[in-house]
Parts: sequence; C-alpha cells; structure tokens
Amino acid sequence: MTNSVKHLKEFEENGAGAIVLKSIFEEEIVFEYNKYMTEATKYGYDDENLDYFDYKIKQDNINSYIKLIKDAKQTVNIPVIASVNCISSYEWVYFTKKIEEAGADALELNVFILPSDYEKDSKEIEANYLKIIEEVRKNTRIPLIVKMSSYFTALGNMIHKISKMGIDGLVLFNRFFSPDINIETQKITSAPIYSSPADIRLPLRWIAISSGKVNCSIAASTGVHDGEGLIKMMLAGADAVEIASTIYKNGAKQISKMNEELHSYLDKRDLESVQQIKGLANQLNIKNPAAFERVQFMKYFSDNQDDIV
Ligand SMILES: Cc1cc2nc3c(=O)[nH]c(=O)nc-3n(C[C@H](O)[C@H](O)[C@H](O)COP(=O)(O)O)c2cc1C
Repeated sequence: MTNSVKHLKEFEENGAGAIVLKSIFEEEIVFEYNKYMTEATKYGYDDENLDYFDYKIKQDNINSYIKLIKDAKQTVNIPVIASVNCISSYEWVYFTKKIEEAGADALELNVFILPSDYEKDSKEIEANYLKIIEEVRKNTRIPLIVKMSSYFTALGNMIHKISKMGIDGLVLFNRFFSPDINIETQKITSAPIYSSPADIRLPLRWIAISSGKVNCSIAASTGVHDGEGLIKMMLAGADAVEIASTIYKNGAKQISKMNEELHSYLDKRDLESVQQIKGLANQLNIKNPAAFERVQFMKYFSDNQDDIV
C-alpha cells in the first residue's frame, strides 16, 4: 500500500500520525544480483563487469526508493518514515545516508535473520544484530527506530540491549511471511498474510513488561485491528501503534474509526490526553507484576482476576 503515494493522502486525511513506507529489502537486491551473476557467468563476464552489475542493481533499487520517499514527502505533511530490511551491515551505511538525504523524517530498521542455521549459536546471531544497529546508528542523524522480531532466546535482554544503543524507538514486533502446506497438491503455499486480533497478545505482554523500563519510545505492531486493540496497547505502555492488516482489510477509514474509539474512551472517563492512560496497566503499575510473567494455565488463574490499578 505504501509502494506508491496513491494511498498516503488518504491515510493522512483519516488521522494517521505518521507513515512507514514499505521496506527496501537487502535480500531482494541480493536475489537480483545473483540472477545477474548466473547470466553473467554463462556469458563469461569478467570481474569488472560483475562489479558494474553489483553497483547498477544497487543504484537502481536505491534510486526508486529515494523517489518514493521524495514523492511521499511532497504528498503528505505527516512524518514519513523510511524502512530498510537488512541481514548484514554491508552497504547499509551508504543506503541509509541516501535515505536521509532524500528527506525521510526517520529510519525504521527492519532487521531479521531466521535463526535456522545449525552452526550459528544465539551469541553469534545476536552479535550480528547489534553490529548492524551500531553501524547504522553511527552513520544516521535522523531518528532511528528498530523493528524487532520476538525470535530471541533471551528476548527481555535483547530488548534492553537494543534500547540502549542510542536508538529513538522500538517496534515490538514484526510479523513475517509464513509458509504452509496444501495437503491436496502437497505443495508449499503462503499462510494467511494478515494478522488477526488474537495476535495482539505476544506484543501486548512484552510491551507491558518493557515500557517504563526502556528509555526509548515503543510502538506496537501485530494484531492491532481496532480501537480496543489500540487502547490495550496504550494501557500496556505503547507510545504508538503501527497497523497494516486492518488497513488492508478495512481500508484507510479504519484509522479514523480507531481514533474515534480512543477519543470516546477518554471522554467517557473525563480524560484529556492519552498520556493519562499510557502505561496504566504495564508491569510497573499493576498490583501484581507477576501477572505478565505467568505462562502456565494453572487453576490459580481462573480463580484470580487482576484489576489493573
Ligand atoms: C502485505 C504486507 C506487506 C508488508 N510489508 C512490510 C515491509 O515492507 N516492511 C516491514 O517492516 N513490514 C512489513 N509488513 C509487516 C507489517 O508492517 C506488520 O509488522 C505486520 O503485518 C503486523 O502488523 P499487523 O498485525 O497490523 O498487520 C507487511 C505486512 C503485510 C501484510
């Protein structure tokens, strides 16, 4: 939806606070390069030619992304956040500089490495994440947001570590494409690409645990589909929510609907600002902080309901 500026004005008119553009994907560039490499090897191109292909592919990709940022900035007045997906720190310093020059208001780093390599332990994988973030932070002057996944052995520790790297915001959590299997054709298919409101629980728990303990902003992502989801995330301590699936399903008007639901929730309680509800139900503010760390379905839970304040 953010691949062209067509929808951006509509998002702004419906009350979006900011727009995160689709990511520019390192993997896509590498894939395209490998395709050229196969062709080039067939025709016996030398190293100089291959270097040229490498340069040209990267230039073309980055140039079309730069154009998207510039067009977006001309279309809307709300902040435009560029997003890069990277799996290595190679090249990204150059790309992020270009993104900054194009006028992006902030950069969201969408880093994800599926921990499927049997040879790599969690220390090595985590060190790679930290290196990417460190490199980009060193070389970026605009606000930097890190969009995390929940695929970490010591998730709390990683959230804390990343939040201390001089970044401005964290997004908890990204949701990924998942493969499925069609039992009739016995072929690999795509699992549903949209989230459902039930998916809110994982980020809700971790935002409630982390907010108030990290010194950067937190945005919630995954499963926020309506005003109720938005309010829950604010109560858990989120500073913002990022929404995707619900816009695909319900259109841009869902943004204004969610904002209205939030306003009427505040009005009903004679509150003037979201600041008055933010974090009310996070781990620091509830009577029983262990509530967010419970994981087993013991009888105890059905007998004891926690109220939040
Ligand atoms: C069609 C589609 C495209 C997406 N493209 C990107 C992307 O380019 N970069 C990114 O960081 N996340 C991307 N996402 C993930 C969303 O930003 C979001 O993290 C995820 O969908 C969970 O939020 P939701 O429950 O509101 O959909 C995409 C999601 C969908 C459904």
